[in-house]
Amino acid sequence: MKISFNESKAEVAVVPFFEGPNLATKVGEKVSFSPVEFGDFRGKKGEVFFAYQGKERFLLLGFGKRDQVSSEVVREAVAEAVKVCQNKGLKKVKLFLLEKSKLAREELILAYSEGLFLSNYAFKKLKHDSLKGETFALIEESIFVHLSKEEQKLVEKTKTISFGVNLARDLINSNADEATPQMIAKEAKKLKGIEVEVFDKKRIEKEKMGLLLAVNQASQRDPVFLILNYSGKPGSKDVTALIGKGITYDTGGLSLKTSTGMDSMKADMAGAAVVIGIMQVISSLKLKVNVTGLIPLTENAIGPKSYKPGDVFIGMSGKSVEVVNTDAEGRLILADAISYAVSKIKPSRIIDIATLTGGIIVALGEDVAGLFTDDEILAKKLNEASNRTGEAIWRLPLYKSYLELLKSDIADIKNAGEKSKASSITAALFLKEFVKDFPWAHLDIAGAFFDKPKRYHTTRASGMGVRLLAEFFEKL
Ligand code: BES
Ligand code: ZN
Ligand code: ZN
Repeated sequence: MKISFNESKAEVAVVPFFEGPNLATKVGEKVSFSPVEFGDFRGKKGEVFFAYQGKERFLLLGFGKRDQVSSEVVREAVAEAVKVCQNKGLKKVKLFLLEKSKLAREELILAYSEGLFLSNYAFKKLKHDSLKGETFALIEESIFVHLSKEEQKLVEKTKTISFGVNLARDLINSNADEATPQMIAKEAKKLKGIEVEVFDKKRIEKEKMGLLLAVNQASQRDPVFLILNYSGKPGSKDVTALIGKGITYDTGGLSLKTSTGMDSMKADMAGAAVVIGIMQVISSLKLKVNVTGLIPLTENAIGPKSYKPGDVFIGMSGKSVEVVNTDAEGRLILADAISYAVSKIKPSRIIDIATLTGGIIVALGEDVAGLFTDDEILAKKLNEASNRTGEAIWRLPLYKSYLELLKSDIADIKNAGEKSKASSITAALFLKEFVKDFPWAHLDIAGAFFDKPKRYHTTRASGMGVRLLAEFFEKL
């Protein structure tokens, strides 16, 4: 989408309103709109109404009660306007900012542009017949009026971050047989300003990543281990290892999932997609940080070669793992990635992001990701990033005693406890066993592939995590 900041003409001008009588903002007050006078439009949050004056088209947009306007309200309201413009095929849109709200101007502009860029996303390549005769079109140009140079930069920055979100969404929405480990490696190589190393199966064997290899056993396709390097602060030794779970399809393996449990499992590489999205963002924004992205990729398939519940495997760390449940595969491939970070990169901190447990959806729902960390600095920085971006996270305890549940009589550790007992915590505790003393945070984003589109998420793939971590790295 092109953005401009001049006063040029558009197909529609979006005019903001608060809810209540005569609560039109400045722009609204200049012209009187009959839908407002007749009471047909009341400015409720997300309410939209087309109005016409002469040859000009306006879209009245409600933001709800003035004292309840927040960044999230703004994002959601703007997304409603975007939706009706898209459905009408309006490609050039002018936006007037809400005035006299209690939000700081910077917050307001940020939220406006996020609502715009995040909702102006569609994934159409798998639609065919339903596209015939459709008037739907993405917005191609948006005009923001009366912005200072600094504010214009903020809009541009938000666009870059949202493009990272959309890159992640594209990968997540793609068919599992398209977004394979090999294809994801190819996409990663296209990233500008990122040095990419691709480990094939042979190299993975050489590195003794036995856990990643075990999960891969039944797959028709080889595993891939991706290393993405970004050095934005060459003089500094500080480096973050950012690890994303890349299960391109999770059948559960021999511990087979039910069919309803499986139909969202092409999204089990959302962590990997988020890492790729983030790398694109930090490189485009030229952030002054060093980040190494690590992405273990494989399908968790089922077949005669499947790894078997009850068998023991040894990963890169040398620790032996009794696999009691082949559906607890994410932590296995992450363990090898963490071990790689620990032994080869020795980073200043490790962050992993993964669709790790169904339990986190039970605990926190779709909109809130689980945060696990013993590092207060990381907890604080991630929480601050969460507050600023509205990507919600909630810290859960790495409750040590539950390690009991992972005790094995024949191996160093089991890969799962009981499914009904704190499964998100035991999953995190399993990862922690491989982290050693490095500062580490784990984000469980299992909810991030929604049951259905909502708010400014126009497809089930939300891309949750990209904005949070972009903000984290910006402030690092
Ligand atoms: N990929 C799933 C977790 C998941 C579930 C993500 C639902 C998104 C939506 C993961 O590999 C898994 O199957 N975890 C099991 C672990 C259990 C066997 C200990 C789970 O959470 O049920
Ligand atoms: Zn699984
Ligand atoms: Zn999984």
